[in-house]
Amino acid sequence: MKKYFVIGNPINHSLSPKLHNYWLKQNSINAVYEKIKLEKNEIENFFLKIKKQEINGCNVTVPFKKTVIPFLDRLSLEAEQTQSVNTICFHNGNLVGHNTDISGFQKAINSLNYKIKNKKILILGAGGVVPSLIFALSKMEASEITISNRTSNKAQDLKNQFNKINTVSWGELPDFDMIINATSLGLNNETINLNTLKIGTDKFFYDVIYNPKETNFLKLGKKLGNQTENGKLMFIYQAFEAFKLWHNIEPNINNKVLDLLDDD
Ligand code: ATR
Repeated sequence: MKKYFVIGNPINHSLSPKLHNYWLKQNSINAVYEKIKLEKNEIENFFLKIKKQEINGCNVTVPFKKTVIPFLDRLSLEAEQTQSVNTICFHNGNLVGHNTDISGFQKAINSLNYKIKNKKILILGAGGVVPSLIFALSKMEASEITISNRTSNKAQDLKNQFNKINTVSWGELPDFDMIINATSLGLNNETINLNTLKIGTDKFFYDVIYNPKETNFLKLGKKLGNQTENGKLMFIYQAFEAFKLWHNIEPNINNKVLDLLDDD
């Protein structure tokens, strides 16, 4: 039986096993997908197991998306440019790091029929997922990408990595069409203070978090009369891309799959 894992810390909240095991069963694939919580000093050992091919592939989540890079033989262009790996697979005996968060975001936005082209995007936060958002948004031809992060030097690091982006101080609200909450603030129902007077009603509020379904950030967007969306579809599509890489099959995304992730 083939074995797949998601590694991270914390990992308890991860819904990847639920989704992948559902698709594995649906496609009659003899494999199992589990989650493992690793400490940083356990990663090397884990990779020794992968290299012996005792493990057939794995997903990587916070905080290891960059940590795993030295253990890989090759990176996809997207993983290289974002320095972020969320999916690992074997290719001709080599361990290859991919970033499926990028196409996950792109496919999620496309499925909503929202057009990023020529739009001004404001991203709140500068954590692990932001390089992938910036890469996807540039590919989708956003006219401006601005980062605002509480710790300004992390926003500056992103500016050094992607020189086309702008940065503003935390609390500053430049003009935007779409605002993305990529901070972890919504996880425990904390609130972001935004100057709502300036916002208007023709904006798109997007939160990368999908649990809770509606963060205070999305509640605010809705209350002001704007379009809102959480990160559930992005999560599903990044898993879809990983599944395709490992099994060469496009799994179904239907209401059953959408409901599956609501049960918890
Ligand atoms: P990491 O930073 O380790 O990659 P993450 O969960 O991907 O972790 O990112 C957390 C993001 O939420 C960061 O942008 C963080 O801001 P800092 O860089 O200033 O830490 C942001 N964040 C978390 N708690 C916050 C808070 N109370 N107010 C504002 N931003 C917060």
